[in-house]
Amino acid sequence: MNNRDRRQFAPATQRNRTAILEVLQTVLPTAGTVLEIASGTGEHAVFFAPQFPDLIWQPTDLRPESLESIKAWQDYQSTPNLKSPFQLDVCQQSWPIENEAIASSINTIVNINMIHIAPWAACEGLMAGAERLLPTGGLLYLYGPFKRQGEHTAPSNAAFDASLRATDPDWGVRDLAAVEAIAVQHQLQLQQVIPMPANNFSVIFINNA
Ligand SMILES: C[S@@+](CC[C@H](N)C(=O)[O-])C[C@H]1O[C@@H](n2cnc3c(N)ncnc32)[C@H](O)[C@@H]1O
Repeated sequence: MNNRDRRQFAPATQRNRTAILEVLQTVLPTAGTVLEIASGTGEHAVFFAPQFPDLIWQPTDLRPESLESIKAWQDYQSTPNLKSPFQLDVCQQSWPIENEAIASSINTIVNINMIHIAPWAACEGLMAGAERLLPTGGLLYLYGPFKRQGEHTAPSNAAFDASLRATDPDWGVRDLAAVEAIAVQHQLQLQQVIPMPANNFSVIFINNA
């Protein structure tokens, strides 16, 4: 099997990437490094990185097969500002990338569709890592479905939540207020909540330490 054959495909990335890009174009800084957490297949990374040629895009994921897919997408659609992926488990007390030279240039963390498809500890770990890595004014961008005031924002999200919990009782659509409460403990201030297509949200936090 050649490297190209290791590309994985997540059809949702094709559906959501343009709307996410439009938000990123309004919020990303003009220089620095974007640390993408839970890059999955790598399709977002190869789509977003060329749109921001003055930024470095650093993909990561927990799973070795995702890292293989990201590398394969990178070989297929080479982009000079897209770095080779690192393995990163947000639940670790310290992330390996914190010891790399690139850490000092990271001013943005992007995390798409992870915190509902992972235990709550992943949300806590993400916020803790964002506090350790982001400089003051640094940005954490989240995308996904969220409950608001304890309620689902659409019947389809309630059904999705039930299917997630049936797959793994530790997964589930998170309440934005609960996510914000953890963020605040880590010096991350909620800056913007932007409704997105298909009952998703872009959620932007700023490190105000
Ligand atoms: C639904 S996929 C989303 C992938 C990609 N961001 C996208 O939108 O297509 C969820 C991703 O979260 C990753 N993930 C789950 N738990 C994680 C953890 N503890 N640390 C880092 N990544 C994790 C999985 O490996 C998977 O790639």
